[in-house]
Amino acid sequence: MSTITFTINGKAATVDAEPDTPLLWAVREHLKLTGTKFGCGAGLCGACTVHLDGAAVRSCQTQLSEVRGRHVTTIEGLSPDGTHPLQKAWIEAQVPQCGYCQSGQIMQAASLLKENPKPSREQIVEHMDGNICRCGTYSQIIAAIESVAR
Ligand code: FES
Repeated sequence: MSTITFTINGKAATVDAEPDTPLLWAVREHLKLTGTKFGCGAGLCGACTVHLDGAAVRSCQTQLSEVRGRHVTTIEGLSPDGTHPLQKAWIEAQVPQCGYCQSGQIMQAASLLKENPKPSREQIVEHMDGNICRCGTYSQIIAAIESVAR
């Protein structure tokens, strides 16, 4: 057992857990931030995507020891008042169906727009390629991202 301290959504967090605990468990079970979802647990679906020092990572594949002293952002912290342009676009484009994968989709999209505010459609498709939506909302996802990137 280790005590690991990091920053999450701008606030200090301390978690007592094994160093190889997936960040996803720390976020959901220890810190009770349940917007980040468990999908496959194997780095294949993107439902668990969060930002680590601003870059998108799969929290199911990120060990807690890797985040010591670093900055984690979850969907709850993407915009403190819930008005991130992507979140507005998601609502306007009526993207979600079941909604389960959507926080991971938005976090993945946010990392793209941070690096490249005006991505081409091809760049959007390539960047979002690893985020799976079992409802097949891909066309709405791309439309929402394009509406912000315009
Ligand atoms: Fe982490 Fe699927 S739950 S990639």
